Amino acid sequence: MYCKAGDNLKENPDQKTAAKAAFNADLVKLDFPVFQANPDLIYFDNASTTQKPASVIETIENYYRKNCANAGRASYLWSSQLEAALEDTRAAVAAFLSVPEKSDQVVFTGGATDSLNTVTMAWALANLQDGDEVLLCPKDHKSAVLPWYHCKELLAAMGKHIKIRHFDIHEVGDYDLKSIKSQVSDKTRVLVMAHVHHVYGLDMEVSEIREIVGTDVIISLDASQSVGHTKVDANALPVDFISFSGHKMFAAPGTGVLYAGDRVKGQLQPLRLGGKSKAVIENDSLKINSNSVCEILESGTQNIPGILSLKPAIEYINKIGLENIEAHVSKLTVDLWQKLMPLPNIEFAPGIGICACDKGWGIISFRFKGISSSDLGFALDEEKIFVRTGDHCVWNKAEAEPDFLRVSMHAYNSPDDVEQFVQVLADIVDS
Ligand SMILES: Cc1ncc(COP(=O)(O)O)c(C=O)c1O
Repeated sequence: MYCKAGDNLKENPDQKTAAKAAFNADLVKLDFPVFQANPDLIYFDNASTTQKPASVIETIENYYRKNCANAGRASYLWSSQLEAALEDTRAAVAAFLSVPEKSDQVVFTGGATDSLNTVTMAWALANLQDGDEVLLCPKDHKSAVLPWYHCKELLAAMGKHIKIRHFDIHEVGDYDLKSIKSQVSDKTRVLVMAHVHHVYGLDMEVSEIREIVGTDVIISLDASQSVGHTKVDANALPVDFISFSGHKMFAAPGTGVLYAGDRVKGQLQPLRLGGKSKAVIENDSLKINSNSVCEILESGTQNIPGILSLKPAIEYINKIGLENIEAHVSKLTVDLWQKLMPLPNIEFAPGIGICACDKGWGIISFRFKGISSSDLGFALDEEKIFVRTGDHCVWNKAEAEPDFLRVSMHAYNSPDDVEQFVQVLADIVDS
């Protein structure tokens, strides 16, 4: 047990406090074979990808070792069992998103990038009109930004000219609400945003943004950095599309999810057709025989073991307790920020280091005056500490935070990891 928590948390708030106190990251670590193989590893690159618990690895291994087949394509048992297991996984994802009755609106994709591109290719191409406007932040991950420029070009080739307008990041690291207010107009059809930012690590205030843009605007939410850290509740979030990757929430790479909300579910066009598609050709024309979002958008042989890994990943998160992960990671983030602050010549990127909030999402970006963060990254690697450096997947140099190092933490990171990291960092920058 990681904590004395579990199902009773909701009933008894005192127990919730006890659970937080008892959360033990070292016990969590025991569930991740990579830490047994590398006991000295301090893995601080979780915003890039997470390590995998044994249950996820077993699921993937079992597929290859024990019942490797295609799903639902044949009459033998393995095939139908795999199809049932995929649908079971879809139901688990729908429940994880608090929409158990809407599993047909949960689409399996190849990752967040694929999900975000599906929004533009399957929805925007078919629904945007000449003169429509899209609002996005150029400092968001380029997987959220670039698909809209691609879509703009494709629409232009079809004779429809849309405009992409930018809104800014506020100096503390969340979106500048004033700039959203100044950009929104009656031509705005779509707003694209992150739930938690991948460099600044703040909750980007989706409800406030919905209030500003009004109810008519379609919001596409990139939940890549919030999923597995906090509840991503498709009922409560005032958005139309939710995209995320499996590999950032303990599941396999090459697997992701797109959730299409009620307003847009009838507006989607197939993106790729093939095996599995419920499509026929009648009188030389294509006819799609399904209203189900996942049947419209999924086709061909998918990443079966990757998709199957989503279920044990969700079960693992539920076993530890999402609220416990959120509280633990927040505490670690505040702790790390307070320990980093006294280091000489440190400069924080926007985020907790600037806004000084008492809640964190595991992400802190910073640099040291006069020291290259890439060099620092290499020096940390020698000490078996993995952090992110580079352009942080922001689409051009002008928008990227110059040369910041990003630490990103998760459930298995401990206060000792933080302590050791700051000590090693202090020694490196001192030398
Ligand atoms: C905020 C955000 N969006 C999208 C992505 C793209 O995810 P993937 O590479 O899994 O498609 C990432 C990955 O780092 C991300 O951090």
